[in-house]
Amino acid sequence: MAVYYTLMSLHFLVVYVKSLMTENIFSLRILSMFAAPWIIILLSTTCYSLDNGLAKTPPMGWLSWERFRCNTDCVNDPDNCISEKLFQTMTDLVVADGYATAGYEYINIDDCWLEKHRGHDGKLLADHQRFPNGIRALSDYIHSRGLKFGIYEDYGNFTCAGYPGIIGYEQEDAFQFAEWNVDYVKLDGCYSLPHEMDLGYSKFGKLLNSTGKAMVYSCSWPVYQIYAGIQPNFSAVKTYCNLWRNFDDIQDSWTSVENIIDYYGNNQDLIAPNAGPGHWNDPDMLIIGNFGLSYEQAKTQFAIWSILAAPLLMSVDLRTIRPQFKRILQNRKIIAVDQDPLGIQGRRIYKHKGIEIWSKPIGPLYNNFYSYAIAFINRRSDGTPSDISVTLKELGLIHFYGYRVEDLYENVDYGVLYPNTKIKVKVNPSGVVMLKGEVQLPNEM
Ligand SMILES: *[C@@H]1O[C@H](CO)[C@@H](O)[C@H](O)[C@H]1NC(C)=O
Ligand SMILES: *[C@@H]1O[C@H](CO)[C@@H](O)[C@H](O)[C@H]1NC(C)=O
Ligand SMILES: *[C@@H]1O[C@H](CO)[C@@H](O)[C@H](O)[C@H]1NC(C)=O
Repeated sequence: MAVYYTLMSLHFLVVYVKSLMTENIFSLRILSMFAAPWIIILLSTTCYSLDNGLAKTPPMGWLSWERFRCNTDCVNDPDNCISEKLFQTMTDLVVADGYATAGYEYINIDDCWLEKHRGHDGKLLADHQRFPNGIRALSDYIHSRGLKFGIYEDYGNFTCAGYPGIIGYEQEDAFQFAEWNVDYVKLDGCYSLPHEMDLGYSKFGKLLNSTGKAMVYSCSWPVYQIYAGIQPNFSAVKTYCNLWRNFDDIQDSWTSVENIIDYYGNNQDLIAPNAGPGHWNDPDMLIIGNFGLSYEQAKTQFAIWSILAAPLLMSVDLRTIRPQFKRILQNRKIIAVDQDPLGIQGRRIYKHKGIEIWSKPIGPLYNNFYSYAIAFINRRSDGTPSDISVTLKELGLIHFYGYRVEDLYENVDYGVLYPNTKIKVKVNPSGVVMLKGEVQLPNEM
């Protein structure tokens, strides 16, 4: 049969009709057995979960930690130290450089914003040299630019960097945050006892609620319990938290990103069903645009984070980010995958010899047939792209009327393809090809 077409883009995607199937080491015949996990998800989304009206889609914003850490040396490094100036600068750039219109809205402080001791009245004090106008002024600055403001504390005697924690002052601190017009609280778990966290994190969640000021509540509760060998009670976690960490802090390296990808893939049966509108797994910050990831690896992090319905919290110096990385962070079509209103966390549906396929059901939904975002990733290190051949059916795209298939990085529309259509993608080493298949209605034929 001679009917086939070759579609050119940077990574050269070829679409065949089925009879033209070619020999390929990564032909995937076993995929159909993976259709089952979605059924589990559909059955498990009815449990009770936090309803503070916030984080209906995964939060997006900028967070200082991964890039700026605990740099408190404003004397020798005034442009990079944790200070009100840094957060004001990033606020301005989020607005001026198009991140805000792409959906990034929270400007979040991480550790090291505090004085080492509380005030005589027991109140938290921001470092008076680095935040000379105080936290409320910074919060007002960020709000006046149309953005939202997040802060960091710790359910323990100290924050991870040794500043005062909230234990013993939970009520005062919750009301202090409300008074500062905080929109988002990240509560870390250093210097506390993991077996007390069920009580502690839920108590602070109730206190935040009692202030009357709705605040996104980011918890580190599961990861510290997992480290301590305690199986987290995820139905409790999602009852109190809008997002939570399950695994290690991200570091500025591809190895770190790979470890996180593996953790989320290997533990997806336990983790993925807990995500949904208002309550999300948090694989940690985006390190795109920093020192450790190549362009291909940065695209892979963004693709997998969006498949995971992860919070998209950039931690990068927006003053110096290179345009190619900025384009990744502002890829509207991939952001839309992450922010899909159905809020279903995607899964790894194939893994063999360094090739992985990840899939996320998204809208539109037609007669119980989802549309899908699909990421093909190549973890191999042989220095040439790998071909992956697969039919739409094998990816779980089985609707009779077909799917409009689009490449979300190359911005190429491949038209409507059918379950038996075989597609072949070329994936660069440590890179990704990301497709979306939009389910077709009969009248669109
Ligand atoms: C926190 O401090 C209190 C009072 O000093 C102490 O009793 C408690 O053991 C400390 N908790 C941890 C986890 O270190
Ligand atoms: C407090 O919790 C109630 C019940 O879940 C919810 O309706 C309300 O929006 C919450 N308020 C705040 C400020 O979080
Ligand atoms: C887990 O949390 C839920 C909701 O808070 C609670 O009803 C349940 O008893 C907890 N399960 C365990 C094993 O503690």
